[in-house]
Amino acid sequence: DWTMGAYREEAIARIREQVGDAKVICGLSGGVDSSVAAVLIHEAIGDQLTCVFVDHGLLRKGEAEEVVTMFRDNYNMPLIHADEQDLFLGELDGVSDPETKRKIIGKLFIDVFQKHAREVGDATFLAQGTLYPDVIESVSFSGGPSVTIKSHHNVGGLPEKMGLKLVEPLRELFKDEVRALGRELGLPPSFIGRHPFPGPGLAIRCPGEITREKLAILREADAVYIDQIRKHGLYDDIWQAFVAILPVRTVGVMGDGRTYDFACALRAVTSVDGMTADYFPFTHEFLGETATRIINEVPGINRVTYDITSKPPGTIEWE
Ligand code: XMP
Repeated sequence: DWTMGAYREEAIARIREQVGDAKVICGLSGGVDSSVAAVLIHEAIGDQLTCVFVDHGLLRKGEAEEVVTMFRDNYNMPLIHADEQDLFLGELDGVSDPETKRKIIGKLFIDVFQKHAREVGDATFLAQGTLYPDVIESVSFSGGPSVTIKSHHNVGGLPEKMGLKLVEPLRELFKDEVRALGRELGLPPSFIGRHPFPGPGLAIRCPGEITREKLAILREADAVYIDQIRKHGLYDDIWQAFVAILPVRTVGVMGDGRTYDFACALRAVTSVDGMTADYFPFTHEFLGETATRIINEVPGINRVTYDITSKPPGTIEWE
C-alpha cells in the first residue's frame, strides 16, 4: 500500500522532529489505536519511549496479561504495568451517571500518568492514539444544534494538566487506516483485527452502579459471546461486539429451582468508522445458541437480550 508505506516514513520523521531527544510516555490500553501509536513511536525513537499500561479494573478477561506479554516480551518495550484497580473501582463505587463515570476515569488516568511520568524521570511528551473521529468531539445532526454526546476520556485537557506536550501520530487517520498502518508496522493480524475497546472499558458496559461482582459476571459473559462469534467465523464481519450487563435482576427457572439473576444485552454492529453503525443480523440459531451458552456457563446471568438499535439513534456503547 503506497499511501501507508509513505505515511509511515513521514510519521516517523515527524515524531523525531517533534520529540528530539526528549522522553515520551505513552498510555497503552491494549486497543489497536494506542498499540499502533506505541509501535510507531518506538520505531521512531526507541527506548526514549516508555509505555504505561493502566489496569483500571475495567478490562476484559485475560486482557492485562495479553498486553503486557505482547509489548514487554515480544516488542521489548519499556513498559510500566500499573495495577490501579482498587483506586479506580474505589472512586467509581456508587456512581451510576455515565458522564460522571467518564469524568472520574479520565481524571484518575491523569493522576496515574502523572505518578508514573515521575517514575520515568524527565518525560516531556505524552503520546496518545487519538484518531480523527475522536478529534471531532461534537456531533452535529442535520438541522439541529451541535451537541456533545459523550466526553471522550482520551482527548482534551490531559497534557496541560500534566505539564506534558502531546504526540498524536494518528490524529489524521480513520480506524481502517490505523489498521493498515499497523499491518505496515508488522503487528500480528490477530491483534490488528481486534474490535475497538473504549478507554473507559467495562465501566460504560455496566449501566448503573459498577460492582466487582457485576464486572466479574460481565467478563465471563463477554468471553463466551466473543468465543461464539469466533467459532461461527463472524468476528471479522463485525466492527464491534460486546456484552452489557443490565442493572436489573429478573426471575428465571433452572432445573427445578427459581433463579433471580442479572439480565444482559448482546451488542454487535457493523460500521466503517464508528460514527454510524447498523446492528449485526445474526441468525436466530446463533442468538439462541449463544443465549443458552451464556446462561449455562455464566453463573449470575439468567436472561439474554439482543440489542437491535442502530447508530443513530443509539450509540454503539450503552453509555
Ligand atoms: P459510541 O458509543 O459513541 O462509540 O457510538 C463510538 C466508538 O468509540 C468508542 N468509544 C470510546 N473510545 N474512549 C475511547 O477510546 C472513549 O471514551 C470512548 N467512548 C466510546 C466506542 O467503543 C466505539 O467504537
